[in-house]
Amino acid sequence: MSETGGIKLDISGLDGFLKPGEIEAMSARVKAVAGDLENGTCPGAEFLGWLDLPERVTEAEFAAIEATAERAREDAACYVVIGIGGSYLGARAVLEAVGGPADGHPEIIFAGTGLCSATLDRVLTRVRGRDFRLCVISKSGTTLEPAVAFRLLRGELEKKYGRAGVADRITAVTDASRGALRGLAETEGFETFVIPDDVGGRFSVLTPVGLVPLACAGVDIRGLVAGARAMREACRTDDLLANPAHLYAAARHLLYEKGFTTEVMSTFHGDLQMLQEWWKQLFGESEGKNGQGIFPASTVFTTDLHSLGQYVQDGRRNLQETFLCVRGAVGDLTVPGDDADNLDGLNYLGGRSLDDINWKAYQGTKQAHLAGGVPCASFEVDVLTPEIVGGLLYLFEKAVAVSGLLLGVNPFDQPGVETYKKAMFRLLGKS
Ligand code: PA5
Repeated sequence: MSETGGIKLDISGLDGFLKPGEIEAMSARVKAVAGDLENGTCPGAEFLGWLDLPERVTEAEFAAIEATAERAREDAACYVVIGIGGSYLGARAVLEAVGGPADGHPEIIFAGTGLCSATLDRVLTRVRGRDFRLCVISKSGTTLEPAVAFRLLRGELEKKYGRAGVADRITAVTDASRGALRGLAETEGFETFVIPDDVGGRFSVLTPVGLVPLACAGVDIRGLVAGARAMREACRTDDLLANPAHLYAAARHLLYEKGFTTEVMSTFHGDLQMLQEWWKQLFGESEGKNGQGIFPASTVFTTDLHSLGQYVQDGRRNLQETFLCVRGAVGDLTVPGDDADNLDGLNYLGGRSLDDINWKAYQGTKQAHLAGGVPCASFEVDVLTPEIVGGLLYLFEKAVAVSGLLLGVNPFDQPGVETYKKAMFRLLGKS
């Protein structure tokens, strides 16, 4: 069990699946790839800006983002964030993990996450008749899904505020110089924030990509970045057992080499569902290359124990499971204990908190899955604060970088994503 910044990593559930000393024997390999990362000598070295990002965010950047958030708080009932993939998932993951927008801040609505007309139509309906602002996020500035949503939502903004009132209500987060969105923002005079060149989309949550929407929702972005900064420090050591990112990467890699080729991230906390989605993108896009990579999947328990639980317990034995568990959320929500007839048979739970019952469900599920032949590791936290969430984000970013390099792939590109785009654009007649 290692503990860093309120995040405990327990790999005792791997004992029956790894030989004694096997993890420790990974030290030299992990040290070598971590050194390549720090020295910028690994594949994809032009995208290592995320490594020291938590230290690089300046007071001026925080202040500019907070000023944008203050304007939104003053004059918007809802704040529409348009983006997809790495330009979307991080902000939503953090926002849900910390329990949604703070009181007195705008509702955050996400758009541009697909091409489904019904979904986008619902967004258009939700903003009609309300004061709103748009934040469009795209590093390339050319991604189809957010571009289409932005065009439609700009039209809606114009209907409400007139042509002259549109530019003041739009923030664009994009590349410093490239892409259609940069050109549009400069021509129309939108407020802009820059995504650094050396930070790829799925590693960009601690840039304005994540920080602008989160600040607008009233999330403590300074706490988030501080948590990531502390984790950055903790994940510098070459002592494998004391470095949670390296330890997690080494353990899952060893399991992969033994045939556990799918990793299921399981949580018992519904507010972590989008963090699981962020994690899936981070790991899937970073590792799934050259016919290799652990397939990242996720379950939210206990709900999914009644759907996927059978497979995890008893299906094909290529699963490794990583629990991401929160001990306490709403501690005073307890089962009433005053039913004299006990017709529902629940008196044995009377007076116990739901968090406590949920934790026992986690422990019982882990025991069952271990007995069923699933190697299980756990990340456990007591509560979800911005600091702890920031720590988790950095831990997973560092882990996937090490893990991808152990696999021998470039963790920082995503060439496979282009293939569907080419086929789709050909069908759409794009020149
Ligand atoms: O991680 C990535 O690079 C991708 O998921 C991108 O974030 C995603 O494709 C969106 O790209 P863009 O920000 O250029 O619109």
